[in-house]
Amino acid sequence: MEVQTLILGAGAAGLMCAAHAGPGVLVVDHAKSPGEKIRISGGGRCNFTNMGVEPERFLSANPHFAKSALHRYTQWDFLGLVQAHGIAWHEKTLGQLFCDGKATQIVDMLRAEMAGAELWLGTEVGEVTHDGTRFRVMLTRAGQRVEVKAKSLVLATGGLSIPKMGATGLAYRIAQQFGHALVPTRPGLVPFTFTGTPLDRLKALAGVATPARVTCGGTAFDEALLFTHRGLSGPAILQISSYWAEGDSVTLDLDPGGQLLNALKAARKAEGRKAPLTHLAQHLPQRLAAAILPEDAPPRLADCGDAVLNRIVEGCRDWTMTPAGTEGYRTAEVTLGGIDTDGLSSKTMESRHVPGLYAIGEAVDVTGWLGGYNFQWAWSSGWAAGQAI
Ligand code: FDA
Repeated sequence: MEVQTLILGAGAAGLMCAAHAGPGVLVVDHAKSPGEKIRISGGGRCNFTNMGVEPERFLSANPHFAKSALHRYTQWDFLGLVQAHGIAWHEKTLGQLFCDGKATQIVDMLRAEMAGAELWLGTEVGEVTHDGTRFRVMLTRAGQRVEVKAKSLVLATGGLSIPKMGATGLAYRIAQQFGHALVPTRPGLVPFTFTGTPLDRLKALAGVATPARVTCGGTAFDEALLFTHRGLSGPAILQISSYWAEGDSVTLDLDPGGQLLNALKAARKAEGRKAPLTHLAQHLPQRLAAAILPEDAPPRLADCGDAVLNRIVEGCRDWTMTPAGTEGYRTAEVTLGGIDTDGLSSKTMESRHVPGLYAIGEAVDVTGWLGGYNFQWAWSSGWAAGQAI
């Protein structure tokens, strides 16, 4: 069988590419349904893009690589598509755009957009070769082996995150086979795990969520933090995890607005008869407030000197700790690293080594922040390749 374009992977990037790659497109995937990560994303409502998309919010060994695709197919282009399909949406927070209804609306929209393309599900990908003009790919579908010849081959099988959902390193393997280098991969947007005394401290607060500034190296995020039985999670932690390397410490500031000291001083004046815990619990979750309050704090706020109030505030800042690790690919939302962008055109996503070979989406060494950035990269890179094919 012969096609113009064979796309490996019917995820976000592969479906978007199929919608723009012209006639003669076959998309194959070993899953039973297309766009499974879209379906489960954003708690079932898909955080499909972010109003604040800019290249600085993506990590890559080459920070300039993502610029071209992101500028040519923007968050507004994708939002326009969502609106043209009559899908209701809302901004949740920090520019994050979600469906009002189900995430499957986005999958249905992409299916409708790529109506001219053929989609083979439950299909295993075997040997891939290039005979100088065309790619030859062995596929197994319903027990039948089929050789497909294609002028263009698009690697869109994503990264290693959530192997239970069918994530594999197929795109990496094929890219390497054709001479591409890989940037070492690691889990991103992932909870931290701790051991020993730090874990005891965190575990005691499991279930508590609070706003925090989380810092690692020179990078900081102000978002919600969640204490867990294994360590730390929540958006602020997922964000910083992409900037964390083994052995690095992270610092939590549980008074991210820096208002607590003034608030405590004002309360001491106005409501001095109250217990310090009563007031502290207006700023922090009760269990966290109780853990931070010094044991020797006087029972009435009026009797707390500046030294005690300073110790309370320090208790909010005194959280520098070194994670033992992360929860790994099992729960990571994305994979950092991947196909080295040096081997790809940033305009077309085409290989510099083998004409007709393309790599898009998460398989490429471009990883976005939490909040719709990774889908936008899938849409933009998928679109860029589709235009070029
Ligand atoms: P994607 O993983 O979507 O697709 C790859 C496809 O290739 C899959 O269909 C897979 O079955 C197929 N495949 C893999 N190996 C294969 C093989 N060997 N043979 C055949 N087929 C193969 N991002 C965001 O912006 N907003 C959000 O709300 C979320 N939420 C979210 C929740 C969860 C739980 C996860 C795990 C991830 C997110 N993400 C997200 C990240 C987002 O899902 C991710 O970045 C994109 O889906 C990447 O799109 P791709 O098309 O590159 O890969």
